[in-house]
Amino acid sequence: MATRKPKALFIGYGHLAKSLITKKLLSFVNIHALNSKKVIRDINLKKKISKFHNDYDYIFLLIRPDTFLSFGKQFQKYLSKKTLIISCMAGVKLSTIEKTFKTKKIIRIMPNVMALNTRSQTHIYMKNKNLFDSNLKKILSSFGTITNVRNEDQINFATSVFGSGPAFIAYIVNIFIKASKKLAKPYNVNDKDVIELFKNILETNTSSKKLDEFVSSISSKKGTTQAGINYIKSQRTEKIIYTSLYKAYKRAKEIDGSKKKTKT
Ligand SMILES: NC(=O)c1ccc[n+]([C@@H]2O[C@H](COP(=O)([O-])OP(=O)(O)OC[C@H]3O[C@@H](n4cnc5c(N)ncnc54)[C@H](OP(=O)(O)O)[C@@H]3O)[C@@H](O)[C@H]2O)c1
Repeated sequence: MATRKPKALFIGYGHLAKSLITKKLLSFVNIHALNSKKVIRDINLKKKISKFHNDYDYIFLLIRPDTFLSFGKQFQKYLSKKTLIISCMAGVKLSTIEKTFKTKKIIRIMPNVMALNTRSQTHIYMKNKNLFDSNLKKILSSFGTITNVRNEDQINFATSVFGSGPAFIAYIVNIFIKASKKLAKPYNVNDKDVIELFKNILETNTSSKKLDEFVSSISSKKGTTQAGINYIKSQRTEKIIYTSLYKAYKRAKEIDGSKKKTKT
């Protein structure tokens, strides 16, 4: 007998939601998505639905934390006894979601937009390990790799490094591209060539130790590399990067206490 495809409701259909919904996911889950205009779309059938049945196996929370903290209760009508809540929201604690929805069937995950290419490194936190069944594993694995964390605060760390991190990395790579172009003017530097350079270095240097050795191996005394590296070090770049990560982590920790309108 054919088994029924599980049904999921995505509450919020923005940047992250759209990168989680891949062809692969749609092949084994029926997905409905709700937006701010209270319109529900059947994503598999590509059409609006006029009536919903609250028979969702999974509800993904993909709204911004401030939306949840202000209007969370209004989503309770979509839940049934069998529904497992999967919160992707930064900062909103499990206990807050439990109180809002009066259920303990909740897990928190921290995926990232790289899910679109099955490359999210998703961190997962739950109090009750029994909630993690093979169906759920299959769904979360469709985003990329999964890492279970034991402590809820580790989700705040994952939010900084793996949730916001892709933006930090993209920004840093881009300023390197822009600086290379500025220096090379009037000669043409191809964006792709500089991006290729990043890829090549990371492909061969797969640990912090290897990266340290790599830097040493090309920094000969009084040479060109050393001139540049010494300057990077003197500008306390390490502290800047640490502080950027720390600020994102700290912001994630603050979110639950703030009911004001805030962006993540
Ligand atoms: N973006 C990331 O890389 C990332 C990574 C990890 C975690 N997260 C978390 O994922 C969540 C969503 O982030 P995002 O970047 O996808 O945000 P986003 O692009 O702003 O999307 C938010 C979505 O929520 C919808 N929405 C707003 N009010 C609503 C309401 N009352 N009812 C139903 N839907 C409503 C919006 O609908 P409209 O389209 O109609 O405005 C929009 O589709 C956040 O909690 C964030 O912390 C994001």
